[in-house]
Parts: sequence; structure tokens; C-alpha cells
Amino acid sequence: MQVALREIGNCVIRRCDLSDLIPTMEINLKTLPEHYSDYFYESLLAELPEAFLVAEVEKRLVGYIMCKIEYGFSNFKKLGFVKKGHVVSVAVLPEHRRKGIGEGLVQEAIGGVKLKKSDELYLEVRCSNSEAVKLYEKLGFITKQRLKAYYRDGEDAYLMAIEFAY
Ligand code: ACO
Ligand code: ZN
Repeated sequence: MQVALREIGNCVIRRCDLSDLIPTMEINLKTLPEHYSDYFYESLLAELPEAFLVAEVEKRLVGYIMCKIEYGFSNFKKLGFVKKGHVVSVAVLPEHRRKGIGEGLVQEAIGGVKLKKSDELYLEVRCSNSEAVKLYEKLGFITKQRLKAYYRDGEDAYLMAIEFAY
């Protein structure tokens, strides 16, 4: 049993358990065109449980966020080599949207990557995905680049990032 990180009405945000991976994959299949192998979910959970979180309402999962840590060039500092969190995927089931769950997941994942002393957190988002772009902007992410034909269907992505101070 994982402790609640945050409660939003009847929704609890907590770390993911191994037994949550199948329902997490089901939410991903229903909500996003980008899918991953079982092994990929397991490895993200093993590597960064601090920022692999789920949202639960009445014992059912309704959302998730999963991240990884990378080392590479900064999205903020010229020539800087930094430790970067990467939001791989976040989603909330349609019937549970606009209740603050997505925002709570991203905020708690920021807390998780900060526990690992990441300098930054970044993600890619479809340029047409204005709900998600608005969510990230609300939390302080800045659009740093437009990645041409980033997705398999040819759509561009925005690379958005946030920098942390300790
Ligand atoms: N219209 C306008 N703004 C929106 C909308 C919308 N439909 N939805 C969210 N926002 C913005 C608003 O700024 C909102 O703040 P406000 O309520 O004060 O106006 C803020 O986001 C937070 O909203 P939440 O209620 O916390 O967001 P929600 O729980 O609905 O989840 C999410 C947002 C995760 C983007 C959801 O719409 C979703 O699952 N979409 C499909 C999957 C997806 O696109 N995931 C992101 C892909 S990119 C990636 O994974 C790195
Ligand atoms: Zn990515």
C-alpha cells in the first residue's frame, strides 16, 4: 500500500505499485496514440518510482504519470550538462478531467524528480494538444523548441521545460 501524496476530492494521488501497471496501460491505450511495452512500464517504475504516480477514485485508477531521469544538455543553460527529468506520459480518463487531477499528477511528479535532485523537467507534447500545453504553462513550463514531425503521424511537438532552483 502506498501513502497518499495528495487528495483532490475523492481522488488520491499516490506512487504506482507493480499491480497498478495493467490498469495504467489500459488508461494509456484509451487516451493516447503513443503506447509502450510492458517491459518499458516496469523499467520506468523500477528506475523512478518517485515520479511514477497514479490517481485513484473509489479503488479504480483514473490517471497516471510516468517519468525518467536523463543526463544531457540543458534546455536552459548554454553548454550546460544537467540531470533532467523527462515526463514520458501523463493522462487522465475523459470522465475525470477538469477536476485538477492532471495538474496534481504533474505537480507531484515535479516533487518526485526534485527528490532526485534533477535540475530540470521536460516533455514533448503535440502542438495541437492545447489542453495539455495550457496545463504545463500553468505549472511554469516554457516552450523551448518545436520538434518537426516528432510523432509517427508527422505532427510536430513542442518541447516544454521547467528549471528548478534548490
Ligand atoms: N481546456 C482548456 N484548458 C485545459 C483543459 C481544457 N479542456 N484541460 C486542462 N486545461 C488546463 C487548464 O489550465 C487547467 O487549469 P484550470 O482548471 O485552472 O483552468 C489545467 O490544465 C489543469 O487542469 P486539470 O483539471 O488538472 O487537467 P485534467 O485532469 O483534465 O488533465 C490532461 C489534463 C492530462 C492533459 C488530460 O486532458 C488528458 O489526459 N488528455 C489526454 C492525454 C494527453 O493529452 N496527455 C498529455 C500528452 S503529452 C505527455 O504525455 C508528455
Ligand atoms: Zn518524451
